[in-house]
Parts: sequence; structure tokens; C-alpha cells
Amino acid sequence: MTKLGRLYSLFDSVELPDTLPYTQVSDWELRFLYLLGRHHLSGRDRIVELGSGGGGSTYALALGLRESPVFDEKTGRLHAYDFFRVGKGTFATEKFFTAGTRPEGENSFLDDFRDRLEPFLPFLEIHAGDIWQTSDPDDSTPVEFLHIDIAKTARVFRCVSERFLTRLRPGSVVLHQDFAGPRLPWLHYSMGALLPYVEIAGPPIRSTLAFEVTRPIPEDVLKTISEDAFSLDEKLALISAVQERVDRDHTGGIPFKSVLELAKAYVAHYAGEHRRAWSIAKPLTGDEYLSRTRSDHFEQVRKAYEDDRATGGGSRLTRLVRKTVRG
Ligand SMILES: C[S@@+](CC[C@H](N)C(=O)[O-])C[C@H]1O[C@@H](n2cnc3c(N)ncnc32)[C@H](O)[C@@H]1O
Repeated sequence: MTKLGRLYSLFDSVELPDTLPYTQVSDWELRFLYLLGRHHLSGRDRIVELGSGGGGSTYALALGLRESPVFDEKTGRLHAYDFFRVGKGTFATEKFFTAGTRPEGENSFLDDFRDRLEPFLPFLEIHAGDIWQTSDPDDSTPVEFLHIDIAKTARVFRCVSERFLTRLRPGSVVLHQDFAGPRLPWLHYSMGALLPYVEIAGPPIRSTLAFEVTRPIPEDVLKTISEDAFSLDEKLALISAVQERVDRDHTGGIPFKSVLELAKAYVAHYAGEHRRAWSIAKPLTGDEYLSRTRSDHFEQVRKAYEDDRATGGGSRLTRLVRKTVRG
């Protein structure tokens, strides 16, 4: 069993306070964050959370660090990155305001975040704004822990990979919070590229995949990930490699092999290969979990395919993009 894997046996021992801020992550994931802080992380290198939202996940991690016998609050730092505001393109919800809705004339929930995280402010470093602006391209300090709950677009994932994945070292731990999201396939194929250099902790914890870096990740691998320079077929093969390693999540609720198959459809969809995307997605419509939870995904991929067919294989722009992607 991996060092991280041992934390799974401690899930039942965790009792988080009822006063935890509103969060979009599950109780299982919060408990894992707590356990990492309490039993695994040292604080010697950077502890980074990308996508803190209203602070639920930050709180669970910070509480674990506070109760850790090795984390030193005087020198250790937990870095929290988020827009800390609602608005178009932020992926933040009004529920991150303490009131549960956006107060008139206000779009920032940063003060609410600070109030809720008050006990941990002495070791919390807040980076408010677009991560492309708030992260330092020249910072090469090693990252001990990375919680990725921010990579909702390929643009943001590029920032994550250029400025944070490059700072991972053997022993670093990463949590991919959106691993059950087929619309974010960059998480899945980049994971495939990282497989030779990491050890997966165990079954995903709800939608979170946890892994530990075990060997230095070569620069060329990191460059290909940040430049998204894989061909469509390479991306599909990389996701297949992940499918060989990941099955149902720890709670038994999420069948990751099917989720990852639907992520492959999105790789083709984003490349403008709508026929191929639908040919991958269509057989999955009979999957009990996917049909129950992802019917909008099927609708999106099917509609793009049908529109494409109606225009005789795509608009000029789509055909041009496709030709460029194929090389
Ligand atoms: C799913 S929420 C995070 C949920 C949070 N971890 C929790 O416990 O509820 C994703 C967060 O990513 C942030 N985000 C997305 N893109 C961002 C960007 N480019 N820069 C900074 N924050 C970003 C949003 O503001 C949002 O709060």
C-alpha cells in the first residue's frame, strides 16, 4: 500500500466541525484533505490550493495542518488561490458569500472567506484574482502539495501545468478534484502522461484522484502537457492508460472507466471531430451512472454531431481546425 493509501483507513476517525464553510466538495474529500494536513504534509515546501472558493476545502486542510505534530505555523504556509469573486467566467457561486447570495452591489466574497478562515489566517497566504495574474511565472520553489480545483478550462489548466506542475518533486502530493468531469479531459490525458512518474494513492475519493510523485518528471513531458502538444490519438491512448489503473471510486458510486471513456468523446469533440466524438459517446448512453448524471453531456456531443452532419461534415472553420489538428 502507498503511504497516501494508508490514509484511507482513517476516514472514519475524522469528525469535521458543523461550522465548516459552504463547500462544493464532498464530505469524503474534505476528510481526505484533513487527513493529509494532519498526517502527511510537513509544510517544509509550498502547500498550495488552487480554487479555494468559499473556503470549505481550505478549512478542512488548514484544520488538519493545525492539528499536525510536524507542521509549524510560524514557518509553514498554505497558499490559497481564487478569484474570490463571482461573475462571468469565474466558476464561483453566490453560495460562497456567507449570506448564501450576493449582497447588492457586491461581487467579492474575499472578506467572507477571511472571516471564516480567521483561525488560520496566521499561516494562510491569500492570492486573490485570476491565477494567471496572481501566480509568479518565475517562482520555482518546490511544491509539496497541490489541490487542483480550478482547472475548469484548458486556459487555466495551462497556467496550472506551467507554473505549478513544474514545481513538483518526488514526494509531492497532488489532488485532482474534478477527475469525474468528462468535460475536462486535459486532466485525464495529462494524468496518463504523468503515470510513469507517480503512484496513485488508491481508488479516487468521490471525484478526486490523489497521487504522489515518485520520480522527477522530465521537462519535455511537462512542456508537452503545458503546450497541450499531444495529437488526438495520443490523448485517447493516454486516457486508456489511466483507465487501466482506475476503476470505481472509494465509495463505489462513480464508475471511472466509463467516465474516462466519455472524457475521450470530449477530446474528439473539442478537436471538432464530431462524428468520432459521438461514436465514442453513443455506446455509453446505456451506462446507468452516465445516463443518470451526464445526460446533458450526451446531448451536447450528439447535437454537435448532428449539426456537423447537416452542414455536410462541418463549417469551413471546423474543417480548417480539424485539418490543423490532424497536422
Ligand atoms: C469548484 S470551485 C472551488 C470549490 C472549493 N474548493 C470548495 O471547497 O467549495 C472553483 C473555483 O475556482 C476559481 N477559479 C476558476 N478559474 C479561476 C482563475 N482563472 N483564477 C482564479 N480562480 C479561478 C473560482 O473562482 C471558483 O471559486
